[in-house]
Amino acid sequence: MQIRTTRNDQPVPDERLAEILADPGFGHHFTDHMFLVEWTPEAGWHDARIMPYGPLSIDPATAVLHYAQETFEGMKAYRHPDGSIWSFRPEENAKRMVRSSRRLALPVLDVDDFVQAVDELVRVDQRWVPETTEPGTGEKSLYLRPFMFASETFLGVRPSQHVTFMVIASPAGAYFKGGVKPVTLWLSEEYTRAGRGGMGAAKTGGNYASSLVAQQQAIAQGCDQVVFLDAQEGRYVEELGGMNLYFVHDDGRIVTPATGTILEGITRASIIELAGKLGHPVEERRFSIDEWREGVANGAIREVFACGTAAVVTPVGALRWEGGEVPAPASTDLTMRIRQALVDVQFGRAEDSFGWLHRIV
Ligand code: PLP
Ligand code: COI
Repeated sequence: MQIRTTRNDQPVPDERLAEILADPGFGHHFTDHMFLVEWTPEAGWHDARIMPYGPLSIDPATAVLHYAQETFEGMKAYRHPDGSIWSFRPEENAKRMVRSSRRLALPVLDVDDFVQAVDELVRVDQRWVPETTEPGTGEKSLYLRPFMFASETFLGVRPSQHVTFMVIASPAGAYFKGGVKPVTLWLSEEYTRAGRGGMGAAKTGGNYASSLVAQQQAIAQGCDQVVFLDAQEGRYVEELGGMNLYFVHDDGRIVTPATGTILEGITRASIIELAGKLGHPVEERRFSIDEWREGVANGAIREVFACGTAAVVTPVGALRWEGGEVPAPASTDLTMRIRQALVDVQFGRAEDSFGWLHRIV
C-alpha cells in the first residue's frame, strides 16, 4: 500500500506533550496525525494517507450514523527501555477485523495493509509513545484505534458502497482510575450482549451501545463493570462490556468461558499460552453463573480476573446481583503473576518466547 504523508504543521508543543504523557488517562488525548484509506467496489482500497489529526466533515446521511455498519480494533504500542517501539500481535487484531468486517458486510482490509497503516502512524507520531515507567503498576503506552465505517451518503439499508478505514492513536495510562485494584461486578439479569447468530464475536460499535444501559445499572448499584450471561438460557457467563473473564481454581486449573458469542480477546488468547507456561492449564468451556457463585463461596475458585487490551489484567472483587452477592475471591496472587508476565513481555523486560512482539521503531 502506498501511503502519502502530510505532516501536521501545528503539532502539539513539546511542553504540552510532556504534560499529557505525565498523566494521559484513557482516550482523552490524540496524536498529531491520523491514517485514512477509502474503499469503493470499483476502485477497491485507494488513496491511503496520513494527515493532520482533525475532525471529519461528513454528510448527515452517512450510512454509519444510521445503521451502525462499523467495526473497530483496540491495540497498543509499547516503548522498551532502549527506546524502541513495538506492538503486540498486530496480525491478530488485523485478522479479527477481517472476521468482524465480514460479519458487518464490510470489505476486507488485508492483514498486511492493516499492520502497515498502524506502523506508519506510530512512526510518524513516535514522540507520543510514553516512556516506560517503573515495573508493576502504571505502565503507559500508545493506544491504537483502527476502525472501519460505512461512509456512503445513502439511507437505503444495504451494505455501503463507500467505506473508510482509519487509525487514530491516544496515549494511555491505567484504564481504571486508581490503578490495579479489584473491580466489583454487577450481574445483568435483564440485558444480554449477544445472541445466537448475532454479532457478539465481532468488534462492532453496536455491541458497546447495547451494553451501556446495563453498565449504567452497574454503576447505579455501586459496581464498576457489568457481567453478561448467554441470551438463550441466562445461565452461562459470557464476558464484561469490554473484557474477557478468567476463573482460577484451588487445584491450579483455570477456566475461561467459551460460548461462540463472546469477543475472543487477544489478551485472552495470550493468557491461555502464558498460563500454560506457568504450569496452569486453561480450559475453554461453558461456565455457569452457579459454578461462579458456588465456587467462590466454597473456596474452589480462588481468583477471578478480567482481561483486555485497555484493562490489561485486572482482579475481580465481589459479584453482585439483584438481591445477592458473593464476596471477593480469596486471592489475587496468580492474577498478578500472569499480569506481570504479560506486561514484562509487552514492555521488553522479559524474553518474548512466543514471538508476539512486532518492532515498529
Ligand atoms: N471483550 C470485549 C467485549 C472487548 O471489547 C474486549 C476489548 O477489546 C475484549 C473482550 C478483550 O479483547 P482484547 O484482549 O483483544 O483487547
Ligand atoms: C480494548 O480493550 O481495546 C477495548 O476495546 C475495550 C474498550 C476500551 C472498548
